Amino acid sequence: MKLPAHARFSTICIHAGQEPDPSTGAIITPIFQTSTYVQEELGRHKGFEYARTQNPTRLALEKNIAAIELGRAAYAFASGMAAIGAIATMLRAGDHVIVTDNTYGGTFRLFDKVLTRYQLSFSYVDTSRLDLVEAAMRPETRMLFLETPTNPVMRLTDIAAAARTAHARGVRLVVDNTFASPYVQRPIELGADLVVHSTTKYLNGHSDSVGGIVVAVRDEDIEWLQFVQNAEGAILGPFDSWLVLRGTKTLALRMAQHNTNGLALAEFLKSHPRVSKVFYPGLPDHPQYDLARRQMHGFGGMLSFDVGTFENARRVCNRVRLMALAESLGGVETLISHPASMTHSSVPPERRAEIGLTDSMVRISTGIEDPQDLIEDLKQALE
Ligand SMILES: Cc1ncc(COP(=O)(O)O)c(C=O)c1O
Repeated sequence: MKLPAHARFSTICIHAGQEPDPSTGAIITPIFQTSTYVQEELGRHKGFEYARTQNPTRLALEKNIAAIELGRAAYAFASGMAAIGAIATMLRAGDHVIVTDNTYGGTFRLFDKVLTRYQLSFSYVDTSRLDLVEAAMRPETRMLFLETPTNPVMRLTDIAAAARTAHARGVRLVVDNTFASPYVQRPIELGADLVVHSTTKYLNGHSDSVGGIVVAVRDEDIEWLQFVQNAEGAILGPFDSWLVLRGTKTLALRMAQHNTNGLALAEFLKSHPRVSKVFYPGLPDHPQYDLARRQMHGFGGMLSFDVGTFENARRVCNRVRLMALAESLGGVETLISHPASMTHSSVPPERRAEIGLTDSMVRISTGIEDPQDLIEDLKQALE
């Protein structure tokens, strides 16, 4: 089985890194649930010595996602946070990082509560404005860490322009691509040096695994990440690696439906009299609609909307029947949440106000159900 050099996205998702098992011909990479590997003689083995360092199921996943994200190598970790933690080990005491102000709360917690203890400093900036990124640059800035779209206000950053700004200063560009997925945008193509994912979300896609992955292009980053994955040992286990590999095979199909459903719900909500505002980059009145059309392939499955008061938001969340009230995102089933009291409750109210996250906002991670059933569910919840 040979993947053609010009293979397209869905073909890459299904075949990259996937070889039939040499001992049996099994078309699916087995779950190599082993801690060690028998060596033929001293100094002679099959490239696998100890399962923290190498595991064939994990390796198959890493090759698969490296190809999907157009990187040269990928390293899988026990969670998205472990993957972001591995990226942080590229920094040294005294280094400074510019971060999207509305970054995922767990990322903010890691940077603010843990890494500042190691003489690292972080500036939280509205990265949709590159003049502010430029103004935040210091001689010791080493990394620009972006999320686009942001959660839950769906603000975008121009990745290609951010790459130019970063590279002009010798700064690495890292993009957390969890929210969009590589079907919707591929940051390496736009100049990013590193891409990170919580594979927990769209890459696995079935709400049954927690994991993370870092994709790299530069030799020195690849060498370091491989070293750190083994040195710190926060690896993704073989069963989770297998689950995510199963997930990426249908990534293109799932994402096409997430895109369709995201747009359908956004348009329905936009026309609803009880909804004062819809946050979705695929609506022409989104302030960065042109950038979304340029940078994204479809607009993703995530959207938020404002229903005027906290009481209304509470009612919608409690009245949906088909949608499940839960944190997380990117699964085949639709989830609804109230960011101010759930995912963003640890963000201080004044910070939430700064980024436009109100108590009357509701977030939806659209699944891949029939969009009409989702619309009917929302319609009855909004009555
Ligand atoms: C954008 C983003 N990055 C990183 C993470 C962390 O991933 P994990 O929960 O797999 O550690 C999340 C989790 O919600 C996320 O939404």
